[in-house]
Parts: sequence; C-alpha cells; structure tokens
Amino acid sequence: MKILSIESSCDETAAAVVEDGRNVLSSVIASQVEEHKLYGGVVPEIASRRHAECISQITAQALDEAGVTMEDIGAIAVTAAPGLIGALLVGVNFAKGLALATGTPLVPVHHLRSHVAANYISHPDLTPPFLALVVSGGHTHIVEVRDYTDYHVLGQTRDDAAGECMDKSARVLGLPYPGGLNLDRASQNGDPKAFPMPHPKVNGSEYDFSFSGIKTHVINTVHHMEQMGETPDVADMGASVIAGVVDFLVRNTEKAALDFAYDKIVLAGGVSANSVLRRRFEELCAEHGWQLYLPELSLCGDNAAMVGAQGYYEFENGVRADLTLNARPTMNIEESF
Ligand code: KG4
Ligand code: ZN
Repeated sequence: MKILSIESSCDETAAAVVEDGRNVLSSVIASQVEEHKLYGGVVPEIASRRHAECISQITAQALDEAGVTMEDIGAIAVTAAPGLIGALLVGVNFAKGLALATGTPLVPVHHLRSHVAANYISHPDLTPPFLALVVSGGHTHIVEVRDYTDYHVLGQTRDDAAGECMDKSARVLGLPYPGGLNLDRASQNGDPKAFPMPHPKVNGSEYDFSFSGIKTHVINTVHHMEQMGETPDVADMGASVIAGVVDFLVRNTEKAALDFAYDKIVLAGGVSANSVLRRRFEELCAEHGWQLYLPELSLCGDNAAMVGAQGYYEFENGVRADLTLNARPTMNIEESF
C-alpha cells in the first residue's frame, strides 16, 4: 500500500510517498534553514507561514516524483504531535482537507515514533523488539520498542534535550544555526578533554538524563573567558561538550540494554547524525556483540519518508483520524492517537 506522508512539525516542510512502510518512492523536503539562520534559531511564526506557502507544492511534487496520483494512495499520514503548534497545524489541516476531498483515510503519526521508523527504511531487516535512543532538538528518550506501535519509555531528560545543549553551546561559541551540525563540523580536530564537563547525576531513575548543567557550564565558561579577554578554542570546547553529552547518552543506553537484555540498538533523531555519537555507539555495540542500527544521514533530520514508514504500521494497527483531528505540541511517545 502506498502512503502519502506530510511533515511540518518544525522548520522543514516535507512530503513523501512510501510503499509498505519501507520503500520510498519519493521524498521532498523544503528547508527553511537559511531564513531562520538570520535569527540564530527557529522563529515559530515564520515557520508556520513558510509551511503554509509551500505545502501544496511540496505535496504535488512528492506525488509527481513518485509517478502516482491520489487514486493510488491508500492513506495520508501526517505528523500531528509533538512540535511547534502553529507549524503542526499547517500539515494537519492540509492533510485533513486532502483526506476529505479525496476520501482517503487519515493516519496521525507521533513525530518521535517516525524518527525511529527512519531506520525501517535504512534497514529492511530491522524489526521490533529493540531498544531505541531517540535524540532530537527537543527530546532525549531511551525507549523499548516492543512492537511497531508499542512503546515503553525507560528514561528521558529531566530538563534540556541533548540537541538543545549542543545548539546553545554552538550559539555561545559563535557558530551559525543549525548549531548541532556546525558544532560537530567545527570540533573534528578538537581535544575532548580540553574542558572538563560536569557529570550530572539524576536521582530517581538510572536511565534519565539532565543536560542543562552542561549547557549552563559551557555558557558560563565562555562568558567568563570573554570577560577575561580570552577567546575559547571552538574546536576544543565543541569536542568537550560533545564528549560530555555523548558519554551520558552511551552510559545510560548501555545500562538499559544490559538490564533489559536488548541486543538490538537503534539510534534516531537529528542528533543521531552526530559523528562522535555514531562512532561511540559502533564501539559500544562491537564490544558487547550487539547489532547497531543507524539511520542514513539523509534520514536523521526531519523528513516525511519516516512519517510514511511509521504511518504504515499505525495504519496496519487500525489507527485512523477523522476531521476532528487536532495537532498537539506535546504528547507521550507511549500514547496512541
Ligand atoms: O530531529 P530533528 O531534526 O528535529 C527535532 O525533532 O528536534 O533534530 C534537530 C536537532 C538539532 O538540535 C540539531 O542541532 C541536531 O538535531 N543535529 C545535530 C547534528 N545534526 C543535527 N546535533 C549534533 N551533531 C550533528 N551532526
Ligand atoms: Zn525531528
């Protein structure tokens, strides 16, 4: 079955056609990076306006590139939560209108589940159950994916996401938006031990994270050095932040995999593009004999192909929405629509 999928949760307007959850027939992404770069981060109101301007065109292009018409489409999958509410509403309302006009079933999809599903596209052999580390700009979760639509959270961040910590560290170091990617690039030859980072302890759960301490430490250190007339070495500071964040991600995921006997580990979300994170997980999994699944780089960030992949499994599980569907800025990954 072919699914038309739509994504507009943040600053990418995307549409795709995906067959049976795994085979991408087309995937179109209109990025707003250049515009938000002027402001050093995503401006929600601008994001919504740009989505509204281009969503019809992007969708038409996705159908066109796949060589199909709406008559070939079995369902429309749309990201309905979590994300920027104004941005999500553009995709959700567009999808509702298209579903009504064409009589096509509508399937709401959780954004973070779709990040995990990017791996079904990259790895045709991957099937649940597995343990997933979901690391994006706004979320950091360790989840048991017991089945395609059966999620159980083991740990999550108590404050900032890993991506937020990298983005704000990049910003204070003067690197342009998108911070995480530029921090990764600028740190390739840096010394990860140059600036010791705090080792946050989170009481109550062995798998939870806290990244606000590292973020604040970096901001304070850079400001302090600047007041003293010193300039921090961007590569060294960047490599140190990344090492601090990645150490924490690796440590908790390793513990969860050992405690719950998982030998399949999946990385997902924008931060899974990070070169150090990918390398460290390759080493970890090689050491334990675990199978590691990484999304290909083009599928790490926001895209609609991953929404079509997860949408297929949600559809198979009977998930449907009617025209009362609303977007939600927050939603637990365990919850179904
Ligand atoms: O999943 P995503 O595209 O959007 C959200 O759902 O949030 O993730 C965006 C996050 C941003 O924080 C961005 O800086 C980060 O992913 N990111 C990276 C890299 N590429 C993107 N972080 C670290 N290293 C990278 N190479
Ligand atoms: Zn995302």
